[in-house]
Amino acid sequence: MLRKKITVIGAGNVGATTAQRLIEKALGDIVLVDIVQDMPQGKALDILESGPVYGYDSKITGTNGYEETKDSDIVVITSGIPRKPGMSRDDLLKTNAGIVKGVVENITKNSPHAILIVVSNPLDAMTYVAHKFSHFPKHRVMGMAGILDAARFSTFIAMELNVSVENIQAFVLGGHGDTMVPSTRYTTVAGVPLEELLSRERLDALVKRTRDGGAEIVQLLKTGSAFYAPSAAVVEMVEAILKDKKKIVPCAALCEGEYDINGLFVGVPVKLGAGGIEQIFEIRLNDEERTALKRSADAVKVLCEQIDKLL
Ligand code: LAC
Repeated sequence: MLRKKITVIGAGNVGATTAQRLIEKALGDIVLVDIVQDMPQGKALDILESGPVYGYDSKITGTNGYEETKDSDIVVITSGIPRKPGMSRDDLLKTNAGIVKGVVENITKNSPHAILIVVSNPLDAMTYVAHKFSHFPKHRVMGMAGILDAARFSTFIAMELNVSVENIQAFVLGGHGDTMVPSTRYTTVAGVPLEELLSRERLDALVKRTRDGGAEIVQLLKTGSAFYAPSAAVVEMVEAILKDKKKIVPCAALCEGEYDINGLFVGVPVKLGAGGIEQIFEIRLNDEERTALKRSADAVKVLCEQIDKLL
């Protein structure tokens, strides 16, 4: 079987760690792209030289151009500037929209059949940019956020209850922003509804920490934002697609009527397989959840309207 080709755009912390995780899982050959001269080449060579020790044979190439990315199966877009302490993801809109647009135009020329996974922030809006300028069908454009937010929620729940993270099935909806909607009602611990196990006060505290999870890391790092958990989340998506797992995960997907959301990318439960987003699952929400999701979608809409004026 021919090896799959995965391109990662942006060789910063998120991009380079994603490349490392992908190659360590032997998911395909990797092309790592960045505009900084020599840097992606250096990181790619360094990762390649870990192969003999770690035991992988996949190729990894670093480049400043797009020629090497030709006919990629999956392209992960991490380009853009990260947050500084005190900034919200939305503060990055103007700069990153222009960067992501340029990247997407280059990708579509070289890999017209690729599946795009967007990681740049503000996430849902940047996924909208990728869709708008790639003209790819909606099932081939998605944003990584829900898996990361759910992983953070799971981590905090496991810490609180002193149980294995493997027992937690966390459920998160909505945009990857301050209005995201971690659902305590649909989250379970070894099959038991989370709401049976913790007081409302503790649940609210864990939801808040999840919502602020990205900012918590930014505050600690001082320069840059999280990259270990984000890259792990990207790899789960790539693996689900390349192995046609039909895995249900939360991703930013284009909603066209689902959840009463129209024309926006927002985090919803989807089925990931060889076709990309093969299905969006519409689950029943109560009034409170519906209101919270609408609020989150409205926040994404404001950003997309700005993009339409800008680009
Ligand atoms: C985070 C940023 C990367 O959530 O969006 O960590």
